[in-house]
Amino acid sequence: MAILPILSLPDPRLRLVSKPVMTFDVPLRRLLDDMLETMYDAPGIGLAAIQVGVEQRILTIDLARKEEEEKKPIFVINPEIIWVSPEMSPYEEGCLSIPDFYEEVERPSRVKVRFQDETGKPVELEADGLLATALQHEIDHLNGVLFIDHISRLKRERIIKKFVKAAKREG
Ligand code: NI
Repeated sequence: MAILPILSLPDPRLRLVSKPVMTFDVPLRRLLDDMLETMYDAPGIGLAAIQVGVEQRILTIDLARKEEEEKKPIFVINPEIIWVSPEMSPYEEGCLSIPDFYEEVERPSRVKVRFQDETGKPVELEADGLLATALQHEIDHLNGVLFIDHISRLKRERIIKKFVKAAKREG
């Protein structure tokens, strides 16, 4: 396993629409393991493949945040949101690609997601709470959407400007 570098704002690859996974093979399994290790190391509760520069519809999610919590990773491949609840819930979100920035986002409280697991087997999952938010946030990444796209334009422009400036400073 390896820890992969995480892309951050304003990297244009974060705006790409990722491609479906067609083959469930050993390289995919290796990528999933690397993504998981990268996510735990960050630490974060969700990671999309494009955040490590891989343009494929792949997510890893694990809500266990603390070291002592039992790890329960989910591998989510080619996900599709097939139902959203009419009720919405606010959550303070962050993103490994936008370090140290948190903002409240409102999304449907519950979602039903259809995806494939690491073996290609179809799975249907109904989620609420933090898992519902994490799934929606990560699926957004596969479509080139970031959580800052759901906040006010003023706040979004301010944070983008900050990251553009920082990237210039680092050369
Ligand atoms: Ni994110």
